[in-house]
Amino acid sequence: MHFHAGDFSRVRVKDRVVWVSDSFEGLPRPDEAKNAEARIWSGGEMAVSLEEVQDNFRRYGLFDEQVRFLKGYFKDTLPKAPIERIAVLRVDGDLYESVTQTLDYLYPKVSAGGYIILDDYGDHLPPARKAVDDYRAAHGITTPIERIDYSGAFWRKEK
Ligand SMILES: C[S@@+](CC[C@H](N)C(=O)[O-])C[C@H]1O[C@@H](n2cnc3c(N)ncnc32)[C@H](O)[C@@H]1O
Repeated sequence: MHFHAGDFSRVRVKDRVVWVSDSFEGLPRPDEAKNAEARIWSGGEMAVSLEEVQDNFRRYGLFDEQVRFLKGYFKDTLPKAPIERIAVLRVDGDLYESVTQTLDYLYPKVSAGGYIILDDYGDHLPPARKAVDDYRAAHGITTPIERIDYSGAFWRKEK
């Protein structure tokens, strides 16, 4: 079976927005005290430009007014992001502080019944996992985390 790009836009939900938040300049310089990865990452890794990401949305017929981009470091963009409610929060910042900032600013906006999907909750990036554990402990979140594979995991916000 194969799909035409337009097939996706026809079946798409029309009353929701996808927010894409990234520096589009790669990782910030890691906090050395919080990230063992600071030994190998110095900032700027994984940079993919805004234009390249937008081109990829365009290629699949998904670049329209339902996709919004927040360019900049999370600490600068997320506090004032005009996002009201979130159904699915996908967390993929790799660094302790990036995961913490994502949860600090966006978790309160996740609706009850919404999902938090963690890209890095495995053994390969312990600081990213610890950031989640610390946030959950600080906010008394005890809903079990369900594993997806060696890295991915999620939980459903109860209230
Ligand atoms: C592993 S990549 C994932 C990219 C994308 N989610 C994907 O799956 O292709 C991690 C991304 O997080 C971004 N990032 C990490 N910390 C950030 C921060 N504090 N502010 C903005 N972007 C950040 C990096 O620029 C990088 O694009």
